[in-house]
Amino acid sequence: MTQHILTAVAWPYANGPRHIGHVSGFGVPSDVFSRYQRMAGNKVLMVSGTDEHGTPIQVQADKEGVSAKELADRYNRVIAEDLTGLGLSYDLFTRTTTKNHYAVTQQIFKGLYDNGYIFPKTTMGAISPSTGRTLPDRYIEGTCPICGYDGARGDQCDNCGNQLDPIELVNPKSRINGETPVFVETEHFMLDLPAFAEVLGTYLQSKQGEWRPNVLKFALNLLGDLQPRAISRDLDWGVPIPLDGWRDQPNKRLYVWFDAVIGYLSASIEWARRSGDPDAWRQWWQNPDARGYYFMGKDNIVFHAEIWPAMLFGYSGIGARDGSPGALGALDVPSEVVSSEFLTMEGRKFSSSRQVVIYVRDFLARYDADALRYYIAVAGPENQDTDFTWQEFVNRNNGELVAAWGNLVNRSISMAAKNFGAVPEPGDLTDADRALLERSRGAFGPVGAELGRSRFKNAITEAFDVVREANKYLADQEPWKLKDDPERQKSILHVALQVVDDAKTMLTPFLPGSSNKVFAMLGGEGVWSGMPEIREVDEDGGTPYPVITGDYAEGAARWEHRPIRPGTPLAPPVPLFKKLDPKVVDEELARLGE
Ligand code: MF3
Ligand code: ZN
Repeated sequence: MTQHILTAVAWPYANGPRHIGHVSGFGVPSDVFSRYQRMAGNKVLMVSGTDEHGTPIQVQADKEGVSAKELADRYNRVIAEDLTGLGLSYDLFTRTTTKNHYAVTQQIFKGLYDNGYIFPKTTMGAISPSTGRTLPDRYIEGTCPICGYDGARGDQCDNCGNQLDPIELVNPKSRINGETPVFVETEHFMLDLPAFAEVLGTYLQSKQGEWRPNVLKFALNLLGDLQPRAISRDLDWGVPIPLDGWRDQPNKRLYVWFDAVIGYLSASIEWARRSGDPDAWRQWWQNPDARGYYFMGKDNIVFHAEIWPAMLFGYSGIGARDGSPGALGALDVPSEVVSSEFLTMEGRKFSSSRQVVIYVRDFLARYDADALRYYIAVAGPENQDTDFTWQEFVNRNNGELVAAWGNLVNRSISMAAKNFGAVPEPGDLTDADRALLERSRGAFGPVGAELGRSRFKNAITEAFDVVREANKYLADQEPWKLKDDPERQKSILHVALQVVDDAKTMLTPFLPGSSNKVFAMLGGEGVWSGMPEIREVDEDGGTPYPVITGDYAEGAARWEHRPIRPGTPLAPPVPLFKKLDPKVVDEELARLGE
């Protein structure tokens, strides 16, 4: 059955280039998943964009001495290029500073407000005495009033885990310039999270056994302490509040997280409009058979498993105050929040300021996208925090991609090309031939099942087992010694090529670039698995901006075993992966200052 699958990928802040820690959380996993789902015949809509509002952008803009808008323009483009370079197959990667996004965000606010799930409240807000600007919670540090830890942040103490209000901190300081904030009365809008306690509870409980256990446990824990949450800020950079008396206030804006999560919906609407069918988005958002999968790092769980579902429920008129759906109609909540854990770098936290970092663009300047994608899939932080080391990267690249998979492709195709110039016709098959063919063909089911559940490590490990068994088969059969028995040689090479073809199909979600090469080497014509591209677009004559998109439906890739056709011409193969000099490890460590 064809399903509509929404792949909703966390929106990177447009405050700098992306490093491999970022893309290991949201980027590669979401793309592996989407490519698999397309191959399985489902209708995928993969959306995201740059997250361009709020303090993270403003703080960096101040540092670089440019306006927030200039900063966002700069990094929107840089990030779009980084993600395209990795081959991430977004149907639309846009940005939060579009007119469309502002309009949709305001519509969701209005719907929630009209249903009574948003209310105003006077609170005490911190401002920086030197700039007069608001100091958001996370930029205030001090001593925790509960446990005495002195690195507590304004919103939370990482030591005892308690939620805090900045005014409660002992000895508060601005993390931006060290000064002591002053607290003044200010009015804000609150999202009434307690009104969703019951629906969120039922919703999350129904996900037992389906979501990754860590993610669900974290989300369920949050339910114990649901407080109304401020969704506006004293800031001049963000989406204006769509109410009379508020709309034109220069220093009141919606909180960046409130608008960012709405991006999934606004990007779907923008995609539909660009595709020429403005209502097409509804098939992913208002369809009981559609499924929505959200990909992110674990620091984003609260926003996707609690706040975003609450916003969607409230807009749809579901919650303690009931209500009726807003103008867009009732909207579906996430089917699954697929969160990764954290990646560290050579035992330390990624840090751009301390140079403990490798940016995606620098990585791609020296290594192939598939090498990074492979590492993240097989050794990334899927279920636990994980350390990236250059030694492991080189070992896996040389041992697994080059020696196991690359070598299997290379020797099977070059031997067949040299001796027969085409896919050879098999003769009678032996037990060993049949066993390997069945093993390979039989892997589509289990590998696909793991991919469909976002168990990427299991999936790629299982696919690589087939590769290893095929290498063992060739070592046992020694077709290179069979010059005098061309008929047997043909059978062996036919079997090997068939398994290469199967394996390249199963590896396509992980390694689309090299799988496309194998497809062509085996005589395939046209596109196998589509690649993303950057297009310049605009909104009714406004300033152009880059988006990532692509014609992925064009690709021939299907999740199935396809019998190879004897007689298909074969060209001598090109190397699939670059073997890395072990010296690379020391060079990279030197760049890190190790
Ligand atoms: N910009 C946020 C981060 O980098 C993620 C936003 S995800 C969205 O942590 F859901 F809000 F879009
Ligand atoms: Zn504490």
